[in-house]
Amino acid sequence: MKKYTSVDDIIDLPELLDLAASFKKEPFQSEQLGKRKTIGLLFFNPSLRTRLSTQKAASNLGMEAMVMNLNSEGWLLEFEDGVVMDGTKAEHIREAAAVVSQYCDILAVRSFPTLTDKEKDMQEYVISAFVKFASVPVISLEGSSEHPLQALADALTIAQFKKTDRPKVVLTWAPHPKALPHAVPNSFVKIMKRSDVDFVIANPEGYNLDPSVTEGVEILHNQKEAFANADFIYAKNWSSFETYGQVLSTDESWTVSEKRMRLTNDAYFMHCLPVRRNMIVTDAVLDSDRSIVIEQANNRTFAAQAILSKMLQHE
Ligand code: CP
Repeated sequence: MKKYTSVDDIIDLPELLDLAASFKKEPFQSEQLGKRKTIGLLFFNPSLRTRLSTQKAASNLGMEAMVMNLNSEGWLLEFEDGVVMDGTKAEHIREAAAVVSQYCDILAVRSFPTLTDKEKDMQEYVISAFVKFASVPVISLEGSSEHPLQALADALTIAQFKKTDRPKVVLTWAPHPKALPHAVPNSFVKIMKRSDVDFVIANPEGYNLDPSVTEGVEILHNQKEAFANADFIYAKNWSSFETYGQVLSTDESWTVSEKRMRLTNDAYFMHCLPVRRNMIVTDAVLDSDRSIVIEQANNRTFAAQAILSKMLQHE
């Protein structure tokens, strides 16, 4: 595996999920694999789970992790070619990516979208530049259009908790006061399309995700209808894709509530976290025994460990 910046980079999903599950059982089974290898974790945006779980995954494989918050600690980077760098940006991505590649065996980068420049965001402007100019494998720690490590942990969580061979999984939009990216839902849709599940998306009018991602998936604009007989409810907010980056609604009738969950087949509740209580989901649902968000976050370590081990073995 030379890069993991999209769910599309997964070749054999069942095999990868088995590997992640085996790391969950025996986290230190390959503790020599990453000996004397280093991963560089570069963050342009905040993180709790992604940063710590990827560091933990690296440590379980015997790797060293170097972490840097590029926006606050590094030089401001220029990504455009051919510009006169007479402004605030002191270093070009060409040198930065090449230099960091000398210090690291794997690079991992988090860079959120602008939510104003759709074209740039869809090109994965920052992470694509690292892939282009780094000489080592690159992992997305959440880019502008995908969060593939999250998606792998999500699929692992569903595999762990499912009670039937083909569970019904619902991805539902839920309200949030701020404009949020499409990365988590995009990657979740992509990985569910490759999973043996009955998959439905529920979102209000105006909130359909990128049609090239959701192609072939049923989209309902009625949350109650979508929740009927669901085995897993995955809640997430995203801003409008069509009216790019805009908050069109904060309709609280889309907040996942106990009443809404009663329509399901006693479904498990999932969210990638961080989650705003009583906006996305009520306290009662989040604190119930059907909420598996903490185990979902735990699975981030083993999903990351599976990807790192593939890269370390050049598979
Ligand atoms: N789910 C997730 O990516 O969490 P962090 O933003 O805290 O890393």
